[in-house]
Amino acid sequence: MATSTTLAPEKSPTASGDRRDALSITDQRTGKSYEVPIADGTIRAMDLRQIKTDPADFGLMSYDPAYMNTASCKSRITYIDGDKGILRYRGYDIAQLAENCSYLEVAYLLLYGSLPNRQQHDEWVHNITYHTMIHESLKKLMDTFNYDAHPMGMLIATIAAMSTFYPDGRNIHDPVSRTKQTYRMIAKIPTLAAFAYRHSMGMPYVYPDNDLSYSENFLNMLFKMPAARGYRPNPALVKALDVLFILHADHEQNCGTAVMRSIGSAHADPYVAVAGAAAALYGPLHGGANEEVLKMLAEIGSVARVPAFIKEVKEGKGEKRLMGFGHRVYKNFDPRATIIKRMADEVFSVTGRNPLLDIALELERIALQDDYFVKRKLYPNVDFYSGLIYQAIQIPTAAFTVLFAIPRVSGWIAQWQELLQDPEQKIARPRQIYLGEGERAFVPMDKR
Ligand code: ACO
Repeated sequence: MATSTTLAPEKSPTASGDRRDALSITDQRTGKSYEVPIADGTIRAMDLRQIKTDPADFGLMSYDPAYMNTASCKSRITYIDGDKGILRYRGYDIAQLAENCSYLEVAYLLLYGSLPNRQQHDEWVHNITYHTMIHESLKKLMDTFNYDAHPMGMLIATIAAMSTFYPDGRNIHDPVSRTKQTYRMIAKIPTLAAFAYRHSMGMPYVYPDNDLSYSENFLNMLFKMPAARGYRPNPALVKALDVLFILHADHEQNCGTAVMRSIGSAHADPYVAVAGAAAALYGPLHGGANEEVLKMLAEIGSVARVPAFIKEVKEGKGEKRLMGFGHRVYKNFDPRATIIKRMADEVFSVTGRNPLLDIALELERIALQDDYFVKRKLYPNVDFYSGLIYQAIQIPTAAFTVLFAIPRVSGWIAQWQELLQDPEQKIARPRQIYLGEGERAFVPMDKR
């Protein structure tokens, strides 16, 4: 199974017939032996509970901080082979989807399991397009943020606020209601994101335009000036943004998705669950890394300073990181980074070359030869080059993670729908190893 976190399909028994899909465990404390079934390359943690030193013993648990080796669900959505650098949505290679599909087609694929035919596609696009408006009170809520509020903070807060505008979202066991919330969520996120940007710029909001595609409409809401007639986003930039949306749409059980499933498992409505997932994505070790990459490139300032920066990272022993490098799952090139790097040239041919690209290329060149990075299998991840493209499209650095969150909503919702239909799932509730004080007598305040 190597380091892939996605379970391979169950293997058939070997021809010799002597192999059993089971793990034998001998507890050296008691001398007792146990046999635990293996299915899909895993044992069930609950099967360890029978292993006890005596009847009063709680039973053995597995300890896995940060879920380094724990599968929390069975999923049919996204497959990753971290060693080989493979990413597939519903069985389709990410590069093929990026080349041939629109983001909305891919969102449909993630949610429904197959690519839409023409009729399904047109209905789907219509339903998303006709849910893009947000309630005027939600717009007023956005007005109350400070001019310098971080766009991710605004986005997270307004997504959570949607829960109060759509109380029917609580009908999570009704598939019709779930579908409605899915339309709303995927349709309205770009509107919220664009309004957050316009608010931070002190500019009037631009309402959605139903004649435009998903990505075109988003760029229109971001950049159209009230006085400018006939503004049309550059088709090359629309295409680039759409590809970036496809690449970011899902990534199996990462930190944000684990939060989505965790909140969803408590049967909260999808708006607050997406708000929680977006909060996780905001972190600089997760989707917030794209913002950090640009800050890092600006701090380095020139190609000549790259070796000194790499030295600082290595001497920092984990304190200072090369942002946009490394991944919990990929121990090879992140296929998304490879696609983005190729696409950068097309974007820069329209926008002009981003001067920070040379610094990024030099960082990558040196890091890929350096023992420190090679030994730890640290390669560029999706965030390493995406920020350069966002910057070239004139997106402010603080809004980069917002652009990650927009498409990830389709993945989060697909994972949430799968969770709710999985009879094995229950409220997520990890165990702990308690290392604190034993019982002690209470001491009144004047005696402490
Ligand atoms: N720069 C320098 N050293 C690094 C980096 C990095 N970017 N990433 C990992 N390392 C080192 C660690 O210091 C550690 O070294 P050690 O073994 O000497 O202690 C070793 O590599 C393993 O690192 P971990 O932190 O244990 O790996 P983990 O799987 O927990 O972390 C993560 C993965 C968070 C992505 C990490 O590589 C990182 O911080 N990268 C930079 C932030 C980033 O780009 N995040 C975006 C990830 S993609 C996404 O979320 C969309």
